[in-house]
Parts: sequence; structure tokens; C-alpha cells
Amino acid sequence: FDTANREKFRPAYHHTPAYGWMNDPNGMFYKDGVYNLYYQYNPYGSQWENMTWGHSSSRDLVNWTDEGLAIEPDGLGTIFSGSCVVDKDNTAGFGAGAVVAFYTTAGENQTQSMAYSTDNGKTFTKYDGNPILTADVPDFRDPHVFRHEKSGRWILILAAGQEMRIYSSANLKDWTYESSFGKGYGCHEGVWECPDLFELPVEGKNYSKWVLVCNINPGGPAGGSATQYFTGTFDGHKFTCDTKPEVTKWADYGKDNYAGVTFDNAPDGRRIMIGWMSNWQYANQAPTQQYRSANTIARDLYLYTDGTTEYLASKPSVENEKMRGKAAVKKNISGSNTISKMFSKPRGTYEVVLTLGNDNAGNVELVLSNTKGENVSMMYDAAKGSLSFDRRKSGNVSFSDQFPAVSVAPVVGSKLNELRLYVDNCSVEAFANGGRSVMTNLVFPSEPYNSISVKCGGKKKSASLVVYPLNK
Ligand code: FRU
Repeated sequence: FDTANREKFRPAYHHTPAYGWMNDPNGMFYKDGVYNLYYQYNPYGSQWENMTWGHSSSRDLVNWTDEGLAIEPDGLGTIFSGSCVVDKDNTAGFGAGAVVAFYTTAGENQTQSMAYSTDNGKTFTKYDGNPILTADVPDFRDPHVFRHEKSGRWILILAAGQEMRIYSSANLKDWTYESSFGKGYGCHEGVWECPDLFELPVEGKNYSKWVLVCNINPGGPAGGSATQYFTGTFDGHKFTCDTKPEVTKWADYGKDNYAGVTFDNAPDGRRIMIGWMSNWQYANQAPTQQYRSANTIARDLYLYTDGTTEYLASKPSVENEKMRGKAAVKKNISGSNTISKMFSKPRGTYEVVLTLGNDNAGNVELVLSNTKGENVSMMYDAAKGSLSFDRRKSGNVSFSDQFPAVSVAPVVGSKLNELRLYVDNCSVEAFANGGRSVMTNLVFPSEPYNSISVKCGGKKKSASLVVYPLNK
């Protein structure tokens, strides 16, 4: 059923559970025109407990249909995060095109289990040989499986304490340990969770790289939960990072994008990621009533290089643009500009595109505000080459000491050309320079921010501001 706008903060175009608690997106796959999204779900309450896989489906990554519960707790434990693959060639013997789910059964120990579906992911049968992998460490979870075409085998990557372990299999049931990655690399201030591993072309180049996604909690750049990643090579056995061990790369510098992973079998070679739009620092206290937590909008990933190393960028998936209504446009802006009423009736769902010409060399400030004096303020600091997002006065910030915060993202490779914002009642997702710098942050204003003001550095008039109401 349609859950939009039942309460003030419920997002209109982001995926949310109908009621109850949600965390990580799980088992995302595409098949026969449908995107399937499972999620860590407590069907019985609004806090983290009773982990079960809820299920939603969508044909356009924007409109989601509630499909009920998919995988429920059993004698091995509750059902933690994991992934799904489409077994086109029937390697497991559950049938050609069966959907096979891998997840952590969290009981006395964390072990890995599987279940299969022969109705495109609507219902699952648990494999009678579960668990398929058992633990030798307490934190042993979040299996992500994918087909490695070159070696003709399946690869499973999971988090074990503060490293990632890689296994291989011919039949999805029997797994052989291959290698581990992590020691000495990146951020180790928290537990490593929810990995992903995939190959991506590098924009404008004739080579590609492998990306190892590593969610970590705590230790994020803005405090608490965040997603780091590593770039390098994968030969079917071992991931080799080709960045200096001490360098940490973050997929999103905001406070509210965690446990992001990608869809299996996405069409047209796309690599589409969705994350959980919250932070373990305060997720259980977020001031919503009927439901807790939303997922980010879908984002298409790509790599780019600064000549030394590769970086991951995430662009809003094109499907999001279909929601655009009639735009309000301000062209040739310079100095200070304000649209004090973006819409005739206040609304909390819109997209902002600020495009800056080559002549805008200085700082850029963009403020969204409401009539209650609440605001979020974004500032591009040209000297530092960074973009900040200040939500300290964004509305209700008092439910956690860790909520009022300023997050800061580097703008890799120079100046700000474009800043794009997706606003949806309780969230602002900021994408700078085609998704090369990203910040996702929750906000809880007492009324929507319907005024926007922009201050541009530089002298000539070549900046433009476009505001689209978003309708579903
Ligand atoms: C990440 C996580 C996973 C785990 C799940 C439990 O947010 O801690 O590691 O599988 O949540 O709900």
C-alpha cells in the first residue's frame, strides 16, 4: 500500500517500511523488469530487534510496493544482512533462474545460511544444509555473493571482525576459503560490515578497476557509521588494493548513508547502489513515529581518476528525474540571490540544481530555510577545496548529542561546477560535480524549507539555479 505522507517526516519518494523498524538494504537484485529490495526489518516494533528480511519491489527504483516478509528467524538465529544472486545456469540445482539468498543467521554464533526462491524472490525455501559457513570469530557476517565470469565461479565476500574474507564456489553450496583483505588498510576505528565487490570502468579511460566496499561502524568521517571503499584488482582469488594503505576513501561524507551495497544482475551494465539513510549513533532515537528509517535514493556508481588513483562517484539514478515537475529557474545569478518562496504551497519534496560557470572561482554558499528560522547551510570553500553541510539549526536536533553536526567533503580535483540536492521531508542528499562528492544527511524541520538563497563568488554572471518540485 502507499505509505507516503502519513506523517510529517515520512519521505515521499524514498523507500521506507510501511511501519516498524528498518536498517540495512539486503539481497537487492533485478530480474524480469523488477528491482527487488529486501531489508533488515523488525515487523513488531520501532527499534532494532527480531531481525527479519522485509521485501519491496519496484519497476522504476522510485515507486516501491510492499511485498511482506521474505525470510524469518529460525533455530539458527535471527536473519541478518546478506545478498541475492540470480542463478541463470542452475549451478545450485534449484532451477534455472532461481534466486538464491545468502544471509547471516545470528544465534549463539553468527553463521551463514542460504535460501532459494523459484518465484522471482516472492517466497523463499531455506536450504536444508544450513549453515553453509561457520564462524571462528564473533563478528562474522553479511555475505555478498556474485558471479565471477572470468573464473566461472561464484565468489562470496563477508566481514570477519576488521577484515573481509573471500570464498569461492561452483555450486553456491560448498565454499572454499580463498583470501582475506584489510589488515593495515583504510579505517579500522570500528567493526567492518556489509561488503561488496565489483568491477567498474574508469570514466574517460580504457581500463577498469575493482571496488571493494567496506561499511564501518563507528569511524566514519562525520562520526559513527559510514562507507569506505578500496580500489584495486581482483583475480578470482584475492583482492589487491592499489592505493596506499594509509589512505581512506569514503563513498559519502554525510552522517546518514550506511550499509550501502549494489544490485545483482542490474540491466545495461549498471551498478546501482542503495544505502540505509541513518547512523547507528542515533537511529533508534530518530523522531519519527509510524516507521523508523528510509533508504537513500538509488545511485549509479562510476569511477574516475585524478591521475594517481581512482575514486568512486555516485550519481542519482536517472529514474529519479522522472519525478521532476515544472521548474523554477534563475539564470545569470551572481552575488546574492534568494527565492523566498520556491512553491506556492510549502512542500518538502524537491530537487535543486545549481550550475556554476567557469568564471565562478570563489566560495559558494547555499542555504535552505523555513519561516521558523531553521536551515541547512552548505558552503563550498574554494581555498580548502571542500564542501560543508551544517545541520546544527536544521530543526529538531535535540534527540541525540550526535545529531547536530557539520559534515565536510573534499571536492576532488578542484572547483565546484555543480551542486545537486534531493530533498524529501526529512533528508537532504547533496551531490557535487556529478556525484564526485556526496553528503547524505537527515533533517527534522518543523516545516519544509521553502526558501533558498545562494551566494556565489566570482564576478561574471554565469551561474544558474533550477528548482524542480518532485512528484511521484
Ligand atoms: C549493519 C549491521 C550488519 C548486520 C545488521 C543487523 O548495520 O550491523 O552488520 O548484519 O546490521 O541488523
